[in-house]
Amino acid sequence: MKIMQDLARRAGRIQLDELGKAHDIEYKGAINLVTEVDKECESLIVGGLQKAFPEYDVLAEEGSGRRSDSGYRWIIDPLDGTVNYAHDFPFFCVSIALERDGELVAGIIYDPNRDEMFAAERGSGATMNGKRIEVSKINSLKQSLVATGFAYNVQEGESLDNLDNFCNFIKTAQAVRRPGSAAVDLAWLACGRIDGFWELFLRPWDMAAGVLIIREAGGEVTTFDGSPYDLYGIQILASNSRIHGEMMGVLKRP
Ligand code: IPD
Ligand code: CA
Ligand code: CA
Repeated sequence: MKIMQDLARRAGRIQLDELGKAHDIEYKGAINLVTEVDKECESLIVGGLQKAFPEYDVLAEEGSGRRSDSGYRWIIDPLDGTVNYAHDFPFFCVSIALERDGELVAGIIYDPNRDEMFAAERGSGATMNGKRIEVSKINSLKQSLVATGFAYNVQEGESLDNLDNFCNFIKTAQAVRRPGSAAVDLAWLACGRIDGFWELFLRPWDMAAGVLIIREAGGEVTTFDGSPYDLYGIQILASNSRIHGEMMGVLKRP
């Protein structure tokens, strides 16, 4: 945990130091971009983890993959919320998780803008800056603040574009937000600032740490119909557990 947190803080420092400066932007798709800061943070984190744990697998967004048969895998998003970052919109983070034999066992999400370190180890609860956190106790969707996001292919005519769900939640929940960093959204659900979250086509590095932190904070994570969650699948529905059924109902609507 200490190594993950130290590396995330160092990456967060780089992100803040470079915020507001001109970036070297490359496009991975029409609206999917990557900056030099994403890459620099990834090499810092992956380098540090590999030095300490040379035998572990690495799955990182900007491609620093590595396979081994150790049973352990680091899952890393060096900068979640890159579009926000490129616009100096201060809502982004670093996300690092550790999987052992396919099970999430440790995770941290570091938000450098607010200096908030969310962390969890399987079976030990979740914390923010060392203090225990829990999901909210709100039990009706009408009183809930829920969040989501949209995949980078949203403009490409993909039929599962999440816009129908977005409209349905706007008409049902107290309010809906789409802040632009899935990992921060999940961390905020874990500490009760958001009551529910759903999204399509997120990747393992967007979700891994957040899923563990939410579970350890007492929340629930499944697919849209309540089936067991799959980190490598295309759906995530996460909540404080009390509004989970109501959220599943909204996601079933046409
Ligand atoms: C993105 C963010 C965003 C989500 C996108 C992700 P990135 O990650 O988490 O909230 O809606 O689907 O790809 O590209 O900023 O690391
Ligand atoms: Ca991401
Ligand atoms: Ca990223």
